[in-house]
Amino acid sequence: MKVLVTGGAGYIGSHAVRALQRAGHSPVVLDNLVYGHRDIVTSLDVPLVEGQVGDRALLEAVLSGRHPAAMGEPVGAVLHFAAYAYVGESVSDPAKYYRNNLADTLVLLEALVDPAQHRLRADGSSGPMPIVFSSTCATYGVPEQVPITEDHPQRPINPYGSSKAMVEQLLRDFGAAYGLPSVIFRYFNAAGADPDGDLGEDHNPETHLIPLVLDVMAGRRPYLQIFGDDYPTPDGTCIRDYIHVSDLAEAHVLGLGRLLNQPGSHEPLVYNLGNGTGYSVQQVIEAAKAVTGHGLLAHVAPRRAGDPPQLVAGAEKARRELGWLPRYPQLEVILEHSWAWHRRRHGVA
Ligand code: UFG
Repeated sequence: MKVLVTGGAGYIGSHAVRALQRAGHSPVVLDNLVYGHRDIVTSLDVPLVEGQVGDRALLEAVLSGRHPAAMGEPVGAVLHFAAYAYVGESVSDPAKYYRNNLADTLVLLEALVDPAQHRLRADGSSGPMPIVFSSTCATYGVPEQVPITEDHPQRPINPYGSSKAMVEQLLRDFGAAYGLPSVIFRYFNAAGADPDGDLGEDHNPETHLIPLVLDVMAGRRPYLQIFGDDYPTPDGTCIRDYIHVSDLAEAHVLGLGRLLNQPGSHEPLVYNLGNGTGYSVQQVIEAAKAVTGHGLLAHVAPRRAGDPPQLVAGAEKARRELGWLPRYPQLEVILEHSWAWHRRRHGVA
């Protein structure tokens, strides 16, 4: 099936493109390349449409198969990754986040429910094509308890998380009113890289812990700042649930299969994606030392605004309902794959 992957030039989207290819689908990528990488799409050997998700005319051309990149075949489903994801920037420039993450997504959803874009389904009925949406544990805000299950209240504490929570609301309303089928995945901390070593994380600017640790170990940065060592955790540093990006990608293929094979439910299907195990910043540093054989200079710095002490997923629902079984749950393996990619991408000996 032809699958539109918005944000397919980005970190998680590019891994999903590969997973779709392996599952026998034909992905077409739509990406504005503000943060995504053209060379990654080229290496995946998939068509790239360079543009905005909020460009309705462009969307209609791609969805209907009229756009040259769609090669005459209408799109049958959408994986929607395209979003800005810098929490700090979302606080200083919320308009950018609501325009890109929320308003542009509204345009996409309107295109999907347009009767001109309805598709015949497996059960013979016709209706809007399914969408799998990338949401985040940031929609929960500061957790009342961990592990966080899907029914935990959603009280985001920054515009990035709010923009994602608002799209979740759109999906509920569009499901009820127009029959739009959707899966919502709430990711915990995406990490790692494709085990083949040719896809991985390359943010600019980089703000995430693991690539920053590896940068210091590779001599590309002088030191790491540990944002707070006085949290109510065993070693005082923040705890996160790191989930391998290839496992995230695999969940999307399963979620898509579920939507295609069991049409009828117009309530979004919501799943946390995490391993259910938390590691502190200090534990990540120690594990990275063991994996790379390098040490690093680290300074304790003040807490970063908006960092909850602990985010750990209750992710049984995805395992139970989708049969999702993460292949790379060990932090050491996640770090090994990240390190291999990091060295290759940045030419580190
Ligand atoms: N950290 C440091 N030093 C750094 C960078 C990070 O100590 O230089 C710490 C952070 O304080 C945090 C942990 O490492 O405790 C992980 O930080 P990341 O920035 O890697 O990840 P976050 O948990 O902040 O972010 C993730 C996703 C976001 C999402 C957020 C929800 O990457 O997209 O969870 O809180 F919004």
